[in-house]
Amino acid sequence: MKNHLLKLLDLSRDDITEILDTADRLKAEQKAGKKHDFPAGKTLAMIFAKNSTRTRVSFETGIFQLGGQGIFLSNVDSQLGRGEPIQDTARVLSRYCDGIMIRTFAQQEVEDLAKYGSIPVINGLTDFAHPCQVLADLMTVREHKGRLVGLKIGYIGDGNNMANSIIAGGLKCGMDVSAACPDGYRPDKLVLDYASTVTDARFELTDDPKTAARGADIIFTDVWASMGMESEIAERQKAFRGYCVDDGIMALASPGCMIQHCLPAHRGEEITEKVFEEHAGEIFDEAENRLHAQKAVMYLLMR
Ligand code: CP
Ligand code: NVA
Repeated sequence: MKNHLLKLLDLSRDDITEILDTADRLKAEQKAGKKHDFPAGKTLAMIFAKNSTRTRVSFETGIFQLGGQGIFLSNVDSQLGRGEPIQDTARVLSRYCDGIMIRTFAQQEVEDLAKYGSIPVINGLTDFAHPCQVLADLMTVREHKGRLVGLKIGYIGDGNNMANSIIAGGLKCGMDVSAACPDGYRPDKLVLDYASTVTDARFELTDDPKTAARGADIIFTDVWASMGMESEIAERQKAFRGYCVDDGIMALASPGCMIQHCLPAHRGEEITEKVFEEHAGEIFDEAENRLHAQKAVMYLLMR
């Protein structure tokens, strides 16, 4: 495992497998009421420049279950909100804490925290990536399907942080990925460049949701307007017409196709109420696995 979790593009397949195996072990230990083998008293600074339910609660619970403490810092009440540079924040937090989790807008801020600090940095979502979410997703798919290699992911929606991370993570794990994104809402060039170099998995970018759904073992979708893009919702609703995961889309997928949605979900936009509720078990397993996957990341980075 590397020193940080900044984006899945930085990890190898072995790194991801190590995280998923560790997550499975920590999940089993927690379910059995067994204490984890992790040094007591570690602290995780958690910087949030955007809203969160799952990421905050799963990280704070996770570090507590590992015998440590999470410290919540919002942009509003920390000095970051008054313009203290990330370089200085990185060096200060490195003197107190054992790790930093950050949710913010620009990926560069996360990269800079890692560059200027001297403790592990974990990306809890940027406009570019959501690696912790996709580690939990891969864990959930492996639990349900028993494997990852050779399965087909169909991603239907915005070429956003989730799309970028699903493409990178899926391809790294030997999965086929077909991403349907409308023109103008495509995944990041860095990710598409990476995808073009992968030889042991198939990648396809299309603007036809049916192509992504056909034969899919897992369909992923996400909101049409991510945090910070709420003002664009009217034009996005037009651009994403036909991108709702509904019964028609599901009929094209493989029998037993799973749905993964990072949540929060907008029923009636990217997914129908019916499809969401039929797959709620898988979707809330996915939400639960945020806890276990992130504990694994902290376990591997902060010992
Ligand atoms: N999926 C996810 O990251 O949820 P939150 O925004 O609630 O943290
Ligand atoms: N793409 C969404 C994910 C939320 C967890 C966003 O960035 O708002």
